[in-house]
Amino acid sequence: PRYWLIVPAAGSGQRMKADCPKQYLRLDHQYILDITLSRLLDHADFSGCVVAIRADDPWWPETAASSDPRIDSCAGGAERADSVLSALEVLASRADDDDWVLVHDAARPCLHPNDLERLLTQLHDHPVGGLLATPVADTLKRVASDSNQVETTIDRRHLWRALTPQMFRFGALRQALEAAIASDYPVTDEASAMEYAGNVPCIVEGRPDNIKITVPADLALAGFILSRL
Ligand code: CTP
Ligand code: MG
Repeated sequence: PRYWLIVPAAGSGQRMKADCPKQYLRLDHQYILDITLSRLLDHADFSGCVVAIRADDPWWPETAASSDPRIDSCAGGAERADSVLSALEVLASRADDDDWVLVHDAARPCLHPNDLERLLTQLHDHPVGGLLATPVADTLKRVASDSNQVETTIDRRHLWRALTPQMFRFGALRQALEAAIASDYPVTDEASAMEYAGNVPCIVEGRPDNIKITVPADLALAGFILSRL
């Protein structure tokens, strides 16, 4: 099977509170979106790559990625899952059902090449696929929704934080996302759609510093992580 890459970059970055979507903020003079894409494309062989962009996005043409012949773009959708599905549709005429698709957040520029390599090698003959994830470090409390009363402490030995890339078979992922979106299931990552469709994704342990830039403090943190990778 071949490998395809999808990078959802159609979000507006509400929690970042910046003047532009966070994927267009810069670290060391480079757009975050460009950093993210080169960390993927420089370390693995993809048959094609589609970036989902907001329809009215004025920043995309300024990126290095927009003039990279390896990269195609498509219009994203209202939710992340809609953006990923749009990108899958672009690949539909070229990809086979059992090809692999890797989906990686534009806002995750700190992916270590060893994690990418481990994901690819550990899942290459897996029937379903899976995702990078990292063990939860904090003690977690379940709190009653209408009070500040702790109901219980959750055993964190079984809890992992889902990261990206997430890697699934093209046909199964497309079907799963279509079904989950059609029934309004809250899809927060590809794995949740796959689970909803009855598949069992596999966890591949990744580094906790593969952070998603979400709030303002994450930007400086990402700069620090990148300087040491
Ligand atoms: N994304 C997307 N299409 C959407 C929403 C999000 O392609 N409709 C992308 C974002 O660009 C980001 C990734 O999905 O690379 C993860 O989403 P998130 O961190 O939530 O980014 P935003 O939605 O942009 O941020 P916020 O939720 O704070 O508005
Ligand atoms: Mg969002």
